[in-house]
Amino acid sequence: MPYRRKTIDPEKIKEQQAICAELFERLTADGRRPLAFVDTYGCQQNEADSEKLRGYLAEMGCGFTQDEFQADVIVVNTCAVREHAEMRVLGNVGALSHAKKARPGQIVAVCGCMVQQEHMAQKLKMSYPVVDLVFGPHELWRFPELLRQVMDARERRDDRRRVFATAKDDGAVAEGIPLRRDGTVKAWLSIMYGCNNFCTYCIVPYVRGRERSRLPEDILREARQLVEEGYKDITLLGQNVNSYGKDLDEPVDFADLLRMVSAIPGDFVLRFMTSHPKDATEKLFRTMAECEKCAHHIHLPVQSGSDRVLKAMNRHYDRAAYLEKVALARRYMPDLVLTTDIIVGFPGETEEEFEDTLSLCEEVRFDAMFTFIYSKRVGTPAASMPDPCTRAEKQLRFDRLTELANRISGEKHRAYEGQTLRVLVDGETGKEPYNLSSRTSGGRLVHLRGDPALIGQFVDAHITTSNTWALYGEVVE
Ligand code: SAH
Ligand code: SF4
Ligand code: F3S
Repeated sequence: MPYRRKTIDPEKIKEQQAICAELFERLTADGRRPLAFVDTYGCQQNEADSEKLRGYLAEMGCGFTQDEFQADVIVVNTCAVREHAEMRVLGNVGALSHAKKARPGQIVAVCGCMVQQEHMAQKLKMSYPVVDLVFGPHELWRFPELLRQVMDARERRDDRRRVFATAKDDGAVAEGIPLRRDGTVKAWLSIMYGCNNFCTYCIVPYVRGRERSRLPEDILREARQLVEEGYKDITLLGQNVNSYGKDLDEPVDFADLLRMVSAIPGDFVLRFMTSHPKDATEKLFRTMAECEKCAHHIHLPVQSGSDRVLKAMNRHYDRAAYLEKVALARRYMPDLVLTTDIIVGFPGETEEEFEDTLSLCEEVRFDAMFTFIYSKRVGTPAASMPDPCTRAEKQLRFDRLTELANRISGEKHRAYEGQTLRVLVDGETGKEPYNLSSRTSGGRLVHLRGDPALIGQFVDAHITTSNTWALYGEVVE
């Protein structure tokens, strides 16, 4: 049966907010302001989800801390994309038992992608008694209700009662969840959730459910509000933003949405993450080129330069098709900044196939590359593919790729020296003499010397030096 887009009734979100009000009374009964610690792992989607968790917690009267020993409520929002991410989460969750011992009333919740996997929820149940509440991404909208269940059990002195909400689900769209954003200059704006691509190595479609788009009017309302509140850098988020709108009744695609958001009056930069090469269209590149506010940056994960590996990954494009897309995008935007993700050591990758990745990188000359060693994910098709290459061999390949990536980024950065670029100042570096951090429209990091009062403003920066990771410059008065 085809997937039907599900939405959560807005009344249900209001009920959750009413629960927040009730928990406010209970959490603040001793006259003290409760503190919450939301610890986020993984991608920008998770950052955006944590802003919703904080929104609910703020409605419960919580202030925020980064210190687990001070927190009354701890929420660990997890990632499952690679084993390393999971190991970090498990290590840190295990270590929370010290904080809980020092603060017996503390509530520890673990949510997000990692716990949506049955074996991980089970592991937390059996081996991590410090955890009181576990809920997957599909249950985030009813976090207040779940937290209340834990608190009710506490009041009944039923301390062994723990709450697990990780049922399998395709996911829904929930509007109206309060948000507490992290920054004041840059904002995330989720436009869709889930993924339907099932790349054979990837866990995301299993834990995040099917692709579902928010309605354009809901996105536009949020974008307008961000601009009114003074945000200057808006990133539209989705696992594959290019399939935006496919599940909606009205005929709207991602390029249309980009045009609508960039038509909002105000001075801001519009970005997006991530686009799958198979769905990146000429219409998208044309729209990016035509819309003044749209950053000329595209993150286009290639994953591999070998046709055989790309096929085994189920990526639905080959090397030639990828290179064609890049050429087309550059024809529309000669100043395009292009970044990518690459997996090294996919099961069965040969030395020759790895060299195809190197040669593709030389050919494209990415501005930045995010490189990963393949990590086996339970339940994905790649997990049962033969993988004769040793970890040590993969590490050697990874090091060679990193060296190439750094060399190319360094060369690309050097080409900016002497230029004057418009940048958005987004924060302080905490280091002298380049005390401010800023970003070019293409998303390159520029360290500047200047007055912190410039944070949140667009300025012209004269680039004087650079290295692999950043550009350095002076504010042009
Ligand atoms: N939806 C995005 C990527 C999400 S995950 C996209 O398709 O572009 C971010 C990156 O993690 C992926 O692009 C991929 O390079 C990497 N990744 C995903 N699963 C992985 C695995 N099992 N092992 C290693 N890297 C992986
Ligand atoms: Fe994972 Fe592929 Fe979906 Fe990206 S497009 S989230 S890599 S399955
Ligand atoms: Fe990780 Fe989930 Fe994002 S698995 S990369 S947090 S979608």
